Amino acid sequence: MEQFICNSCGNKYDSTPTLWKCECGGVLNIVKDTPKIDVAAWDKYPNSLWRYVETMPFAKNSKIWESVTMGEGQSPLIVLDPLEPNTYVKVDYMMPTLSFKDRGAAVLMTKAKEMGVSKVIADSSGNAGTAIAAYAARCNIACDIYLSDETSPKKIAQVKAHGATIKAIHGTREDVAAAAQKAVDEEKVFYASHVYNPYFYEGTKTYAYEIYEQLKEVPDALIIPVGNGTLVLGAYYGFKELVENKLIEKMPKIIAIQAANCAPLVRAFEYGLEQAEPVTNKGTLAEGIAIAAPARSSQILEAVRETNGSFIGIEEDEIERARKMLADKGFYVEITTAANYAGYLKYKKAADEKFIIPLCGAGIKSN
Ligand SMILES: Cc1ncc(COP(=O)(O)O)c(C=O)c1O
Ligand SMILES: [Zn+2]
Repeated sequence: MEQFICNSCGNKYDSTPTLWKCECGGVLNIVKDTPKIDVAAWDKYPNSLWRYVETMPFAKNSKIWESVTMGEGQSPLIVLDPLEPNTYVKVDYMMPTLSFKDRGAAVLMTKAKEMGVSKVIADSSGNAGTAIAAYAARCNIACDIYLSDETSPKKIAQVKAHGATIKAIHGTREDVAAAAQKAVDEEKVFYASHVYNPYFYEGTKTYAYEIYEQLKEVPDALIIPVGNGTLVLGAYYGFKELVENKLIEKMPKIIAIQAANCAPLVRAFEYGLEQAEPVTNKGTLAEGIAIAAPARSSQILEAVRETNGSFIGIEEDEIERARKMLADKGFYVEITTAANYAGYLKYKKAADEKFIIPLCGAGIKSN
């Protein structure tokens, strides 16, 4: 049994299936030492993110993931355009539910299974809910997914297909989260939240491990979309573990991308704040990153600053243009993901800098 520590006040708790935040309201992290990375052990495992299971907080030699995995992870790393050989896309939509959220969901739901959980609740802008619903089905765990009633119909259909109960909420993304959290506390069930539950980041950190294996060097920068920060924080933790194991010498810069119409982190970065103040979502095509009040904002800001990175806000027309440009190169991405490429285009990169852009969601998920 692990312990959790509050990111705000440092209070420690034994991790239990129903604990999801500190009494002070702060978010929780897992108390753990840097895992020892044994690169030679990776080839013992199938070609999936479970190659790195020995760095995750599971019981030693646990095989529980074998009945859960659907082959998630090890997504292709491809040069986007031969004319720009230092720019890669990591095709994270090539996952079981067609988004990178499968990284976190596979690990989080395996943990829920290890804890003997019978029901989970999650809230989502769509993709995390889909991923949690799929892995809950795989684990035979009942699942309620809270979504905005304006979520892309295709994502809602995907969640439903896995047998999850949809709770459609009329209101903001924050209203959706509040409804889910109320239900979690009333029903006393496991909150399979990609935001609050720290086991999710044990899955998204594999993004960094894979880049390390595939590129065989540290890229100069990672373009990463940010709403609640599951990929930013996962990539940051993953590279940090590689540095602390002396497998690499430096962290890549994290260039975090938000839609300008909902950009609390861009604003906090510009003003030098330690945490983001909530904004009003003015409406954006990039529904997956439209988070007006990210709960882990101080961790996200700290991570990006520590890598010498920055934040960029993207306008709606830039998102639309970028989606078309990616499709012209063969990659059909969901509209949120186009913001990542727009961020890359906006950043003034030197020709010899190696950049990686994640393609987080598949085109058929959104209109
Ligand atoms: C396609 C896509 N990209 C990026 C994100 C942003 O992830 P996060 O909110 O964890 O920062 C999401 C989240 O739902 C997403 O669906
Ligand atoms: Zn606290």
